[in-house]
Amino acid sequence: MTKRTIAVLVTAAMTSIAIVAGLGPFQTNAENSQQNGLKAISDFNSIEDKAARSKAIFEEASRVLTHPRCINCHPATRRPTQGDDMHPHVPLMIAADSSLGPAGLVCSTCHGPENRSVVGSRLKSIPGNAHWSLAPASMAWQGLTVGEICQQVKDPGRNGNRSHADLVRHMGTDHLVGWAWHPGSGRAPPPGSQQEFAALISAWIDLGAECPG
Ligand code: HEC
Ligand code: HEC
Repeated sequence: MTKRTIAVLVTAAMTSIAIVAGLGPFQTNAENSQQNGLKAISDFNSIEDKAARSKAIFEEASRVLTHPRCINCHPATRRPTQGDDMHPHVPLMIAADSSLGPAGLVCSTCHGPENRSVVGSRLKSIPGNAHWSLAPASMAWQGLTVGEICQQVKDPGRNGNRSHADLVRHMGTDHLVGWAWHPGSGRAPPPGSQQEFAALISAWIDLGAECPG
């Protein structure tokens, strides 16, 4: 092999690494999750240890819980975030005194009972739901690990005094939770369906509601 051939090969190898690395940032979580649905409960049957199976199932469900469609409304501070990159809400919104937004500019000023299409703009739709409001501070998920979110969700002191059965009902039938899978034009839903998500939550609880470390 001549020096020149080696140089060409090295350049080619580096170019392909650069291409692979370059593609990374363009594939957002949302795009990823749209391509892959949620795993079924039976996909976890090979994990014999009950606690380990419960944890693995929660990890799978956390692909929904940590999706931007959910955690934009469960932020670390009293400020909702927007989009797949979870940038600060424009205009800046601070729901300090009430989850419904500041007096004079409550969420429902702009967020109607349904998604609303916007024509001829970069913004394709304004998300809407009758109960549009910010999750309470005790339910802040942004910045938490999956294990920490798991602990929060099952803690009645922080989850709105919900029992295990209430959690399955809330995640499986609540309209605001369901909005995430019908987020309006210009927004990608989390993986799977609300039903499949609730089935995972239900199985996680049946196996002891164990939290990943
Ligand atoms: C002045 C109008 C206005 C007010 C008031 C308002 N919003 Fe918004 N909000 C919007 C618009 C417009 C969008 C869509 C922006 C986009 O997709 O780029 C949006 C998007 C969002 C999103 C992002 C959805 C997603 O997943 O991308 C969240 C979360 C949100 N708003 C929460 C709230 C909350 C909570 C309140 C009240 C505390 C509120 N908003 C008040 C106009 C408003
Ligand atoms: C528009 C804002 C908004 C969006 C979007 C949203 N939530 Fe919430 N979430 C809330 C509010 C407000 C509450 C408090 C309601 C209550 O306690 O009755 C809440 C409470 C919860 C709770 C209750 C208990 C707890 O431990 O946190 C769960 C679970 C939950 N949301 C899951 C989800 C999931 C899963 C998604 C996405 C599929 C989602 N939420 C999307 C606003 C939102």
